[in-house]
Amino acid sequence: MTIQWFPGHMTRARRQIEDKLKLIDMVIELVDARLPLSSRNPMIDEILQGKPRMIILNKADLADPAITSLWVEYFKKQGHEVLPLDAASGYGIKEIPERSKLLLKEKRDKRAAKGMNQRPMRGLIVGIPNVGKSTLINRLAGKSIAATGDRPGVTKGQQWIKIGTEMELLDTPGILWPKFEDQTVGYRLAVTGAIREEILNVEDVAYYGMKYICEYYWKNIAERFELSEAPQDLDNPNDIVEIMEEIGRKRGCLMSGGRVDLEKASKVILREFRAGKMGRISMETP
Ligand code: G4P
Repeated sequence: MTIQWFPGHMTRARRQIEDKLKLIDMVIELVDARLPLSSRNPMIDEILQGKPRMIILNKADLADPAITSLWVEYFKKQGHEVLPLDAASGYGIKEIPERSKLLLKEKRDKRAAKGMNQRPMRGLIVGIPNVGKSTLINRLAGKSIAATGDRPGVTKGQQWIKIGTEMELLDTPGILWPKFEDQTVGYRLAVTGAIREEILNVEDVAYYGMKYICEYYWKNIAERFELSEAPQDLDNPNDIVEIMEEIGRKRGCLMSGGRVDLEKASKVILREFRAGKMGRISMETP
């Protein structure tokens, strides 16, 4: 499902998060580990008003681990707790409460110094559509709570999900919009499936992804599709299209007369990329 982000929706989404900020101690911001900047809201710092923040690099199972380590350092330098994880399998999520304690250490130490009991740390999950917010909430809750593809502007009763004894999360995530203004961001989000490629042209999206992969991850696709020759000139569209056609031929995407159906080939390329079949690929570096 695609959310149409008109200015009114953005204002409402922002207001909903601002209202919830009053109820919580910290924010868990989810981004896609493969493109941590493109999969973020451009106004996030302003919207969160300095709340302590943990950045979760989700879908780390699909990202290049070496690049993910660079992103961890990048966000740490900005003063956030950072945790790469895989919400779909649950790998890494057990660390969330302990990391939250580190994030809120100052506040908790102050309470302890005053002889006060610690109350559960209260958090809110935020992120753009499709980064895995519902998947993570359901994993943490151990049951299905947040409907995947929650819409902005639809409110329901506020519920807290208990994560062990020391943490509570609001059951509805804050949904934010990505950076639309930048075309590169749009293509990157489309390649990963965060926005539907139908909005753009599927061949253009696959072309964008293929060019990137040929430049940085040639070995991955050379192996998977048994390609013999790397494109000679990455800036020559014909060279990239030739690779797409070769993949199409290998996957049987043919039209009558034996010509390659480039649209079909593009869909195959995007499907295999998104499923991680081309290996772990990151599309942005710090
Ligand atoms: P949202 O609430 O932020 O909109 O995202 P949601 O949880 O609906 O997740 C979007 C898609 O991303 C889902 O796939 C989900 O399974 C997948 N996903 C979430 N976290 C991870 C992760 O850590 N690793 C991987 N590989 N995938 C993840 P889908 O195709 O839309 O649905 P489904 O086919 O999995 O049911």
